[in-house]
Amino acid sequence: MPDPTTLSILDHVRPEVRALPTSGIVEVFDYGRNRQGLIPLWVGEGDLSTPGFICDAAAAALAAGETFYTYQAGIPDLRSAIAGYMEAHYGRPFDGGHFGPERFFATVGGMHALQIAVRLVAGTGDEVLVPTPAWPNFGGALVAAGAAPVECPMRFEGEADHGRWRIAVEDLEAALTPRTRALIVNSPSNPTGWTATHGELEGLLAFARANGLWIVADEIYGRFFHGPGPRAPSFHDVMRADDRVLFAQTFSKNWAMTGWRIGWLEAPPELGPAIENLVQYSTSGVPVATQRAAVAAIAGGEDLIRTQVERARANRDLLAAALRGTGRLRCALPDGAFYLFCGFDGVTDSRALALRLVDEAGVGVAPGSAFGAIGEGFVRLCYARRTEDVVEVGRRIAAWLAR
Ligand SMILES: Cc1ncc(COP(=O)(O)O)c(C=O)c1O
Repeated sequence: MPDPTTLSILDHVRPEVRALPTSGIVEVFDYGRNRQGLIPLWVGEGDLSTPGFICDAAAAALAAGETFYTYQAGIPDLRSAIAGYMEAHYGRPFDGGHFGPERFFATVGGMHALQIAVRLVAGTGDEVLVPTPAWPNFGGALVAAGAAPVECPMRFEGEADHGRWRIAVEDLEAALTPRTRALIVNSPSNPTGWTATHGELEGLLAFARANGLWIVADEIYGRFFHGPGPRAPSFHDVMRADDRVLFAQTFSKNWAMTGWRIGWLEAPPELGPAIENLVQYSTSGVPVATQRAAVAAIAGGEDLIRTQVERARANRDLLAAALRGTGRLRCALPDGAFYLFCGFDGVTDSRALALRLVDEAGVGVAPGSAFGAIGEGFVRLCYARRTEDVVEVGRRIAAWLAR
């Protein structure tokens, strides 16, 4: 029993909360945040502010007095708009299925959708498989819920500068225990840009079915896809009505709305009452004005998405070409999302590299170690920015490596 007189106030906080890791991305960001001339590619957001027609919808809602508590699941207009959007871009949720509004629940960003998904399927003592490199918030949400993230390193295969990441199902099987409850699948992936093929999604679904696991599918970058077809393959393409799949989604990236904090959870409608309770006891709902902005985004945002995706693709190719020119690049060209996850021969400590790039190259990157142990040696560069910046970053890093 510790001596109560020597305990700090923090020691009285729940152990799950004390166990929360501090983000390795934030450390580098804090280190370099005010550097003159630094080009920041460390955070996962674009440089476009939200278009006026989306902001106007929120302003009009506020002016019209839409300032009250609202539906826990989201306003009907938004749930219908999301259902229409999904129908237009994903076709059918599964064979013979239908994207009814009752499948969609408005949340405070994709992060809140993920929080609710985690709360639905994993709690104290449970384990959840997280293929890594992975966005650190998956692990953070699990630890906060008392569950344990189990890192399952993906395999980097092929040529050093033309490789591909892969989830090997045998690695997931090896990580199973009687406490395993769920598998998180983030495709296209932050940070690697890895995008599952239909065959890979089928394999992951078969694994989840065989072992009675939930899948938490984070497909928020599904429209940022550079492979064949208009969007990334989705579990919607391969699942059945009775599959236990929860989807986290967000308005943040497609519609340049990171600061608005609005997203959605897609789940079997039978879970509606449980989800509404979780909303009630966490945020009690999403502001109506924000939801009106989201409805406008869906209605008028396709040009914005097209512009961003085209720019991301061009930036990806320019950045990869500049870094390939160093002859030291280790990287899988991302099929989706807007990150290059790369290493350089001779560089092993990604945190040290990220800090040195701030000081010596004027570039802000996220250290690969922040995305799991397998990410050590890599850094993540977010190229959802104006092309001049991305080209300049390629030049600065190449010059720094050549010194
Ligand atoms: C993979 C992934 N999922 C979910 C989110 C959540 O987005 P937000 O909470 O901003 O809507 C992000 C944001 O960076 C992400 O990269």
